[in-house]
Amino acid sequence: MASLGFARQISNSSADLLVAPPRRSRSCCPGRNRVDFRVFAQSDAEPDLSVVVNGLKMPNPFVIGSGPPGTNYTVMKRAFDEGWGAVIAKTVSLDAAKVVNVTPRYAKLRAGANGSAKGQIIGWQNIELISDRPLETMLKEFKRLKEEYPNRILIASIMEEPVKEDWEELIDRCEQVGVDAFEINFSCPHGMPERKMGAAVGQDCALLEEVCGWINAKATIPVWAKMTPNITDITQPARVSLQSGCEGVAAINTIMSVMGINLDTLRPEPCVEGYSTPGGYSSKAVHPIALAKVMSIAKMMKTEFADKEYSLSAIGGVETGGDAAEFILLGANTVQVCTGVMMHGYGLVKTLCSELQDFMKKHNFSSIEDFRGASLEYFTTHTDLVRMQQEAIRERKAIKKGLQSDKDWTGDGFVKETESMVSN
Ligand SMILES: Cc1cc2nc3c(=O)[nH]c(=O)nc-3n(C[C@H](O)[C@H](O)[C@H](O)COP(=O)(O)O)c2cc1C
Repeated sequence: MASLGFARQISNSSADLLVAPPRRSRSCCPGRNRVDFRVFAQSDAEPDLSVVVNGLKMPNPFVIGSGPPGTNYTVMKRAFDEGWGAVIAKTVSLDAAKVVNVTPRYAKLRAGANGSAKGQIIGWQNIELISDRPLETMLKEFKRLKEEYPNRILIASIMEEPVKEDWEELIDRCEQVGVDAFEINFSCPHGMPERKMGAAVGQDCALLEEVCGWINAKATIPVWAKMTPNITDITQPARVSLQSGCEGVAAINTIMSVMGINLDTLRPEPCVEGYSTPGGYSSKAVHPIALAKVMSIAKMMKTEFADKEYSLSAIGGVETGGDAAEFILLGANTVQVCTGVMMHGYGLVKTLCSELQDFMKKHNFSSIEDFRGASLEYFTTHTDLVRMQQEAIRERKAIKKGLQSDKDWTGDGFVKETESMVSN
């Protein structure tokens, strides 16, 4: 929906009364902003976590990422009750009968020697497909949720084969039950690409442009395009999606992986009837990779799409408020969590909110916009790092005062050498 009016952040918390500098005027020096902000901040005000993204108002930036935590009415209701800012349901398609899952379909990677069962879980692989529940059932549940939680944000994750009429039907049926926005799954790495769905579209910019065109011509609610990291340059499909009318980009979906080989049976994990297939990697281990992908998309959006309020939803290995703060410092408007909920439960949102607020209090930030994107400008090329370091060394040498020893006096530089040791 290309012509959507974008709302600025509106909040009714006491933090609204504070006069914070507008975000764009803070582009050059976050250090100074913090000082500015200290002048205005009230010490007793709780930082405001609410965000408005593409006109969607959320109590906090934490969004249930598409996957098991959004598979049915019961779990999505639980997410709203626990306080998640929004829920993205498990991806749906027109014909769930074509979706056949296998079990086991998950495998964990633990820290510690030989994946010791006591080690902390750092990585998670899944070979799960999109929702295998009938679309009609999912739609009924979306409708019920929106009736019971009219002020909460429910986002439908959708995926189809590249057939225009099928996408139009899917969009129409989801909109009729009142979902607030779409996230388009252009990124599932396993199973679906075999039907030219998911990552098969996200990895092919020409096809992506065509499909985004159909979607944005039909949809009347905001559309986010969910990117696959399994591509050389993630900014390319992100750019194509925004140019083709999407309001936002979400990144990342899972990373193509082989979790491991069982050294007793010599069979790969997760093992289904003795065999496996590469799947999608998520959880803590993917967080640094997700940060890099989000950073490059955010830089591209800042340079090329600053005219409108396009949004960025960051995903990958979030388990703490600090993980979320990192994504927001790179420019994310919202932060999604999927595997973290599978490991820690829906109550995790309370910890995430309080840890994010602790971070904000430490820096005297009163709203998400106060620090969103503040770290982005500190990324540059390696060539530029070399240039800056050489300049810094030159400057340090230039300001180095005085001679080390009396043997250093020279006839030619005598006056300058004398001056270098004068204090006034
Ligand atoms: C078991 C499982 C199932 C998933 N299913 C979907 C899905 O149906 N649609 C989708 O867009 N992403 C799906 N994802 C990807 C997640 O939404 C998310 O992009 C990815 O796992 C990285 O985030 P995380 O580290 O917080 O899990 C799934 C992830 C997992 C672990």
